[in-house]
Amino acid sequence: MNSKSKQDQVISNDSISLNSYEEMAEYYFKYVDTKPFNAYYERPATISLLPQVKGKKILDAGCAAGWYTKWLLDKGASVIALDFSPNMIEMTKKRVGNSAKVIKADLNEPLDFIEDESVDIVLSSLTLHYIKNWNLVMSEFNRILNSDGELIISIHHPFMDFRVFNRENYFLTELLDDEWNTNNAKVKVRFYRRPLSEIINPIIDAGFIIERLLEPMPIEEFKIAHPNTFDRLTKNPQFLFIRAKKC
Ligand SMILES: C[S@@+](CC[C@H](N)C(=O)[O-])C[C@H]1O[C@@H](n2cnc3c(N)ncnc32)[C@H](O)[C@@H]1O
Repeated sequence: MNSKSKQDQVISNDSISLNSYEEMAEYYFKYVDTKPFNAYYERPATISLLPQVKGKKILDAGCAAGWYTKWLLDKGASVIALDFSPNMIEMTKKRVGNSAKVIKADLNEPLDFIEDESVDIVLSSLTLHYIKNWNLVMSEFNRILNSDGELIISIHHPFMDFRVFNRENYFLTELLDDEWNTNNAKVKVRFYRRPLSEIINPIIDAGFIIERLLEPMPIEEFKIAHPNTFDRLTKNPQFLFIRAKKC
């Protein structure tokens, strides 16, 4: 770790949705652990892509309220958790105490507080669609991973965003506005939609080999909780999952 303190990590002008996540930190801590989209769709798919994590050093990039951070710690990994939202950082610390390094940092900026080839796995779930330019973040993930290190990501599925947001030009990378219901308010969230090639090629260009691409089905518990949404998800992808290896 270099001389920059945790508080010194810069927030980029390219950052979007920071205020939204600041506002939603308590909501994430209290309610998102059990949300069907997370518990019965996103997490089973991401976990299926993870190699053995015991004894591994893992970066949880976009940790929010720390669900993955805690899960990884419980499985015997050591974890660096990062997020650009100070409130999310507080929620992760509340969940895991001092058992992980929890750092406020922006993925639009160099991760120069993490040494070269010092991490075994980078896990970034549902976070990279907030990053416009993937070249820097992918080359930073590649730099900090040791040889044979693994990158596991989940993001909005490009087909879903193109269709649901009724876009005209698939080939653009564009900023979209969404509104989420939380326990007590609607929160505006902005994110980037991009074509599939703009997802795959920055990963390859940064020095990864793509090992697996997943368009999963929800697990059966989703059907019990929300049969209609379960049915939709068995016909329409919501998230895209990728496992890539450093080469
Ligand atoms: C949808 S949440 C995903 C949380 C968690 N990974 C999960 O799957 O439960 C996205 C997280 O990414 C963080 N985030 C968004 N843009 C970021 C950026 N530029 N740098 C660091 N974190 C960012 C947000 O603060 C938020 O906590």
